Amino acid sequence: MASGGWGTYLGAPEQPVGPDNMSDRWRQFMKRLHPEGIPWPGSVLYNALSRSEIFRRHYELVAHDVAQYGTAQRLLDIGTGPGHLLLALRRTVPDAELVGVDISPAMVAQAKGNVKIKAGDSRIEVLPANANALPFADGTFDCAISTGSLHHWNDPIHALSEAYRVLKAGSLCLTYDLVRHMPKALCEEVRARFGGFRLAILWLHSFEEPFLNADEMEALARPTAFTVEGTRFAGALCCLVLRKAGDPAAGPDK
Ligand SMILES: C[S@@+](CC[C@H](N)C(=O)[O-])C[C@H]1O[C@@H](n2cnc3c(N)ncnc32)[C@H](O)[C@@H]1O
Repeated sequence: MASGGWGTYLGAPEQPVGPDNMSDRWRQFMKRLHPEGIPWPGSVLYNALSRSEIFRRHYELVAHDVAQYGTAQRLLDIGTGPGHLLLALRRTVPDAELVGVDISPAMVAQAKGNVKIKAGDSRIEVLPANANALPFADGTFDCAISTGSLHHWNDPIHALSEAYRVLKAGSLCLTYDLVRHMPKALCEEVRARFGGFRLAILWLHSFEEPFLNADEMEALARPTAFTVEGTRFAGALCCLVLRKAGDPAAGPDK
């Protein structure tokens, strides 16, 4: 395993940190307790939390991570929540058209407010939609992104297949989420940057949210038409890198 520093942690976790012994049954139980979309007043609370330093740093990190894959004209953020990633993306991919969707109308309202107040930018659109039924034509986007939403999805294989459908040939789907097992060295980085208290909160969080592990994220994508390029860490988030087959110049391709 190699670590190229914060945000470029490579490889699969080798030293589990998290509630693995309870893994599958615990995750299924927690999934039943968590609604798929975050309703009001959870949306208001989450919007407040997402202004904290650890969230903001991760939005920036993900936005830079996305930008390093090259320029995209249309990006889709699935499960955008309060839309802060869209605002961070506006800084790293300034020319792109950005679209965020969320299953929760309460979250969409938060995101619309944030985008209007902070950007006033007509090239950022937020609308209510389920990841399982995206209201876009085939081959609409150059890149699909999602942060912290995958573990909420009731039918993630279907949702990833929908992302495949709305992507152009050759495009990437980057799905970032917290995982039950963060590599030990990464935990040390989080502790150094954000303090032991926040690391403890993250760790406790993995007992009450139905997070996956890196290998489980990859396994979800295998039944889809995507090519699984692997998983790696961007900050504390594990990124599942998927690519749609085909030549980007060839146009829409199902
Ligand atoms: C933990 S929040 C993450 C929000 C945001 N991406 C972020 O990083 O701050 C998860 C979001 O996914 C949304 N969500 C859950 N299931 C969804 C689905 N099937 N389709 C679209 N959005 C979904 C929830 O409503 C919630 O806003």
